Amino acid sequence: MDVRIGLGWDNHRLAEGRTLVLAGVRVPCGFGFDAHSDGDILLHAVTDALLGALALGDIGMHFPDTDPRWKGCDSAVFVRHAASLVRQRGYRIGNVDATVILQRPKLGDLREAIRSGLAAALELEPERVSVKFKTAEKVGPVGEGRSAEAQAAVLLVRD
Ligand code: C5P
Ligand code: MG
Repeated sequence: MDVRIGLGWDNHRLAEGRTLVLAGVRVPCGFGFDAHSDGDILLHAVTDALLGALALGDIGMHFPDTDPRWKGCDSAVFVRHAASLVRQRGYRIGNVDATVILQRPKLGDLREAIRSGLAAALELEPERVSVKFKTAEKVGPVGEGRSAEAQAAVLLVRD
């Protein structure tokens, strides 16, 4: 069986007056990501997991954060590009499993919206996409609400 595994991680500082967006879904709260692009840590982690599975480097190689083209960019552009590389190389995504670590707000009510957003960006059935949420138990920069993190694992299967 020809399969490949990929792992991705991202974090961003949180700042007041910015938008918090996860898989394109806006989370209603008074703070958001302090980032060059829209800061969508979930899509960034999944993008890195896809690139990693293909051994094609990382998101910064494909979309440098010094390039003004990517300022404020919708991160769906990044993940769609990585998913197109998967198809070009003769693979399909078997499944994606991701975790967002955010102290607050609770994201449970947005779980299906975020999951659908990620599935749509990847052109996958939602059944192949899992999104989990964790606090950081009020410890460290994430737990103190200064930043948020996302982790992702993907499995690619030869088409
Ligand atoms: O971090 P902790 O184990 O306390 O999280 C308990 C549960 O709270 C998680 O399993 C998840 O269902 C939910 N959660 C959430 N939104 C967050 C963090 C946690 O919905 N930002
Ligand atoms: Mg716990």
